[in-house]
Amino acid sequence: MDQYRVFGNPIKQSRSPFIHQAFAKSTDQILSYQTEFVPLEDFELRIKNFIADGGKGANITVPFKERALAICDKLSERAQLAGAVNTLSFNSGEIVGDNTDGLGLVQDLLQNQVKLRGSRVLLLGAGGAAKGVILPLLAQNPSALVLANRTVSKAEFLSEQFNSEKLKVYGFDNIPHQPFDLIINATSASLSGNIPPISTQLINANTVCYDMVYGKQLTPFLAWAKQQGSLKVIDGLGMLVGQAAESFKIWRDVMPETTTVLQSLRIKLEKD
Ligand code: ATR
Repeated sequence: MDQYRVFGNPIKQSRSPFIHQAFAKSTDQILSYQTEFVPLEDFELRIKNFIADGGKGANITVPFKERALAICDKLSERAQLAGAVNTLSFNSGEIVGDNTDGLGLVQDLLQNQVKLRGSRVLLLGAGGAAKGVILPLLAQNPSALVLANRTVSKAEFLSEQFNSEKLKVYGFDNIPHQPFDLIINATSASLSGNIPPISTQLINANTVCYDMVYGKQLTPFLAWAKQQGSLKVIDGLGMLVGQAAESFKIWRDVMPETTTVLQSLRIKLEKD
């Protein structure tokens, strides 16, 4: 049976085996997908061992996505620009790296009927999570993609790597006061119960607000956005399923349907 794994530290909380097993079932593919906990010093060795055991592909999660990029023989442009790899394929002795996080986000936004073409998009954050989604967002042809970060120099450095006049950079306190069509929170602020301090004037009822983080309850950013009148708030659970679907497609050459898996995952999350 073809073997796949997700490598990370921690890994117990990973929903990937559930998602990929559901995809396999719905597309009649026979495969095994498991988690592997990796001690920090052992990442490269564990991948080598998995390849030697006949592993076909792997997902890579925190904190190994940059190290995964370094072991690849071939890289997609997306992975290169993201500076991180979340999907490895082992093809006749070669390690091929890709990054499906941004595609997962775009897929989830489109599935939620969020229009990207011609829209004004605000992306909050300039860490790994933000970096991974810039190219796929630009590919959707928004009218502007505004990057804002607490440390402005980090956002400036990031924008220089993407050659696009649509990309503009601001600090949280000087973003031009005009409502956006879409605001994406790619900061890790939610994880510590905080929200990026942006002006309430950037949101109106038609502003869709998206948080890459998800949880049982609305994230602090989405709760705040709702209070400001945003009628559509979306958390990152669909992005998780979307990136998994894109990895599955790379490995199995078939695109699985995602809505059923997302629904069961939501129910599971509420029960936990
Ligand atoms: P990730 O890979 O999840 O993006 P990261 O690379 O550590 O993690 O980046 C974290 C991002 O969240 C950064 O943009 C960080 O802002 P700084 O670059 O100024 O550090 C942002 N961030 C973290 N905590 C925040 C908070 N409380 N308010 C606003 N931004 C925050």
